[in-house]
Amino acid sequence: MGKNKLSQVDYDSLIRPYRDALFTIQLRLDGLNADYLKMYKNYPIHHIQQRIKVKTSIENKLKKRGLPITAQIARDELTDIAGIRVICYFTEDVYHLVRQMKKQTDLILIKESDYIKEPKENGYRSYHLVLGIPVYNMDGLQYYPVELQIRTLTMDLWASMEHRICYKPEDGLSSSNSSHFRRYTALLDEIEHECKEMCGYEVTRC
Ligand code: GTP
Ligand code: MG
Repeated sequence: MGKNKLSQVDYDSLIRPYRDALFTIQLRLDGLNADYLKMYKNYPIHHIQQRIKVKTSIENKLKKRGLPITAQIARDELTDIAGIRVICYFTEDVYHLVRQMKKQTDLILIKESDYIKEPKENGYRSYHLVLGIPVYNMDGLQYYPVELQIRTLTMDLWASMEHRICYKPEDGLSSSNSSHFRRYTALLDEIEHECKEMCGYEVTRC
């Protein structure tokens, strides 16, 4: 019978390259933010959060998928061990960053989901990319996936509240508050729109 936990040693060596991958992607984003400031006298990025999946979350995700709980399987099957969330001011900033990241040809595009153009049924909006990031070690070059979520401040407010209010680990997704959240989407969109106008934001930037 297989084990149902990763050893601490296995977990530590599993996540080391993902830390390097996150570091690389953070540097690229900081570079883009600084370039943009030079050109347009303001930033597209409000803030960035990043996380490495904790040991129990990796174990639980593999268990849920009915997979053996080993570092190798985690490496092969999970694309969200490393995650980075970029919070922008406006929707145009999100698409600007997506275009710029996709121009960086040493990064591999593994998966792309535009939940802004096509929001999830509950109204969730965000742009998701899974990028393969080159990491060098003694064995040479290997690519490690990082899940990049890019969204605006108002989309992040929505997602953070929805996660807090609607997601109950003990009984799955609760739908009783979903109509409120559908209404909030429209309200938050209006706020973003009006702020953009007050900023005199030019939509032609790319
Ligand atoms: P996971 O197995 O959960 O990673 O889903 P997936 O591989 O189908 O990817 P997807 O792009 O749908 O979602 C990945 C991540 O996006 C989640 O872990 C959340 O951080 C975020 N997310 C996706 N859907 C929702 C949602 O309905 N509400 C909120 N608050 N966050 C969401
Ligand atoms: Mg996930």
